[in-house]
Order: sequence, then structure tokens, then C-alpha cells
Amino acid sequence: MPLDRKPAPNDLSAFWMPFTANRQFKTAPRMLVAAQDMHYTAADGRQVLDGTAGLWCCNAGHGRPRITRAISEMAGTLDYAPSFQMGHPTAFELANRLVEIAPPEMEHVFYTNSGSEAVDTALKIALAYHRARGEGSRTRLIGRERGYHGVGFGGISVGGIVSNRRMFGTLLAGVDHLPHTHLPENRMTRGQPQHGAELADDLERIVALHGADTIAAVIVEPMAGSTGVLLPPKGYLERLREITRKHGILLIFDEVITGFGRLGSPFAAQHFGVVPDIMTCAKGLTNGVIPMGAVLTSGAIHDAFMQGPEHVIELFHGYTYSGNPISSAAGIATLETYIEDGLLTRAASLAGHWEKALHALADHPHVIDIRNMGLIGAIELAPIEGAPGKRAFDAFVRAFEAGILIRVTGDIIALSPPLTISEAQIDELMDTLGQVLKAG
Ligand SMILES: Cc1ncc(COP(=O)(O)O)c(C=O)c1O
Repeated sequence: MPLDRKPAPNDLSAFWMPFTANRQFKTAPRMLVAAQDMHYTAADGRQVLDGTAGLWCCNAGHGRPRITRAISEMAGTLDYAPSFQMGHPTAFELANRLVEIAPPEMEHVFYTNSGSEAVDTALKIALAYHRARGEGSRTRLIGRERGYHGVGFGGISVGGIVSNRRMFGTLLAGVDHLPHTHLPENRMTRGQPQHGAELADDLERIVALHGADTIAAVIVEPMAGSTGVLLPPKGYLERLREITRKHGILLIFDEVITGFGRLGSPFAAQHFGVVPDIMTCAKGLTNGVIPMGAVLTSGAIHDAFMQGPEHVIELFHGYTYSGNPISSAAGIATLETYIEDGLLTRAASLAGHWEKALHALADHPHVIDIRNMGLIGAIELAPIEGAPGKRAFDAFVRAFEAGILIRVTGDIIALSPPLTISEAQIDELMDTLGQVLKAG
């Protein structure tokens, strides 16, 4: 499609858009037709500063030549190869590169095509691991209120966002939820909040209720992104690690947003100094350019499966596109780009400027909380009475018209720009957002 073509409204009906107010969108479409570096081009030719790295995924910015070249070269060399009982070198190479940047305890990689699939895969590995070790009674999974773990049945069962769950029946049985970590006394905190480490102790209550020998795993986002950027209180993740270890419960970190430099370290596990047994990732794994997700596991988990006759499949799980050549090539090129440009740690050096610029919006109309860490930030607005979510959604539309892409969840504005953003672009993003908020 030529870049300047604006689809007429009657072109839009066939595509049932995900997580979108379809009728609203189709009456006033917001179309993106190209992207380069820190900017999208809108259908009317305007440049729009990307304040969200697409959907938390384009960590190296847009149109990175090494990645697009790797994809087109692989498409012309090995367009597809099965990963069931067959292999190709690029998938193995990417797995090696991934474990190199992950905490040393993470030794193996299982590929998926998305974050949702990575979550469901991680939950299945946790259940099967216990069974493989003769602890088949460990079937219970523990998530957290307000958690987002994608949209598979496993993910919405352990997830804690009510709108993502309530329409879809009974979900997985045997799931409990820890309380979320968003406390009013932590409002306007810069970085990790002080209060709330004890919320992890609720796991002891769940253990006392059901017995540790019925619990397979606890899954949390080390920093909850999609629900509106909820940060782990100081000491909270450490406590969760301690309690899970004490009871032989696996700890899964869902690093779909926090992976690949968002907080200033390759993964949040390194940033917080807390290492789980299993980690999920996706999004930034290929800079968002092509679908791919992955589950990283410890050696102990992987090795528990490597028993029995050698010709027998050890894990009856996988996807047609697990580790496909084009995504794998994109993954390698992405990691090379991140490493060459120092992006896995760049957020740490920008975090101070980011924090100051973000918190300068604290006195703007309707702002009730601001929170931040690495290159992620949230501005929570007071809801309009009787119309929750409307204030932030209106701000989102005005922001797009003003030339910045932000993301909203309920009445929370979330910001997570590409890690290539400059200090001047951070200022531009916040200045424009400030004007948008003042007009609200
Ligand atoms: C923590 C987390 N897990 C899982 C997912 C789902 O990923 P996907 O949309 O690629 O299925 C997301 C997406 O935002 C996420 O933030």
C-alpha cells in the first residue's frame, strides 16, 4: 500500500482489532504507515514520537538495518525448517546468545511465538517438572492480582485483570492469587517503593491453606507493566524467592516487558538481583519486528526431563514456528544491535533524566500518582466519575494528534520509549504530554 493512502472507513470492517474499541477506532482511525528510529509516520504524513516502543517491544527503535537484513537474508536462504525432530543452526545459536546475557542459572531456551505462549509454556513446564520428579501432587499455580500474563487460558487464569478474565468461563482450576503491590502510601515514589515487602508473605497463607506439596509455581511480572506499571516494593521479590525456595515451589518471572534492557539490565532478574527458576520473554527478543517468544529455564528443570529411553520425546509441547529460522535470525541480529549500541544497560544512564522529566508533570491537572523505573513510567489520572478510563483515553487521542504515541490502561498513562531515546526527545515527550494534560 502506498504510504500516503488513507483507507476509507468502509475498508476497515473486516479486521476485528485486538484490545481495541473497534467502533470508536473505525469512525476516527489512527493509522501508522511507516516507522524509522524514534518516530512513526501517521497516514497524514505527520511524524509521531514513539513513547511506547510500539507495544513495549521495539527497544532498539525502528527500521534497524541489521535486523531487516537478517530477516530478508534468512527468508532467501532457509525460509522454514521444522524444529520437531529436526534442527537448523540459527535457533541453536540464538539460544546460546540468550543464555549468555541471562543470569548464569538460566541454561536452556524453549521457543514460542509470543509472550502468551511463553507463559503457557512456562506453566506447563512447571507442572511437568514436578511430575517428572515424582511430585505430581504439585498442580496448583499462583498468580497475582492485576498481573498480566497474556491471553492464553493459562495466562488469564494466573493473571489478575478482571476484564481479561470474566468473559471466558471458569478458566484453569486450582489457581490462587497473591495481592497486588500497589499501595496508596507509595504514591509519587521515585523508583522502587519503600512499603509492601510483607505482601509476599501472603504466599505463606496460601501454603498453609493448601499445603506446599500441592503448589507447583508462583508466576509474577518482576515489574507489572500492562496493568499500569506497578513496581515491586523493596525486598518484595527477595521475600518471594525465599518463601518459594523454602517450600520447593518454582518461581517464574514473566519478563515479556522487562526483558532486554527496559530497567537498565538485560533482564529484571539481574536488576533486582533475584533469580527465578524460569523466565519468559518475547517482544524485545526480536525488537518486535517478527513474532517470537522464549522460556528460559535452569539446568535443574531441564535435566529433570532428560531421563528414560533416549529415543522418547521428553516434553510433549511445542509450536510449528518454535525457533523458526527467520525469527531466530531476527533474534540474533537484535541481540547484536542491543550489544553494539549498549542498549541492554542504556536505560540505567538515562533513568535519572527520565525520572526528573516525568515527575515534573506531578502538578498537572488530575494527576494522582507518578511512578518510574529504568525507562518506564506511569502517570495515573483521577477517573471521571461514572466513566472510568475515559480521561486517559481522551488524553491518548489528543497525544496522538499532538505528535506522541503513549499507551493507556484504565486511567493510567504508561510510557516505555525505545531505549535509543535521547534526553532531548525525553524532554519533547514530557513537554508535549504536559500540554496534553493541561488541555484535559
Ligand atoms: C508480562 C507479559 N506477559 C505476557 C504478555 C503477552 O505477550 P503477547 O502479547 O506477545 O502474547 C505480555 C504482553 O504485554 C506481557 O506484558
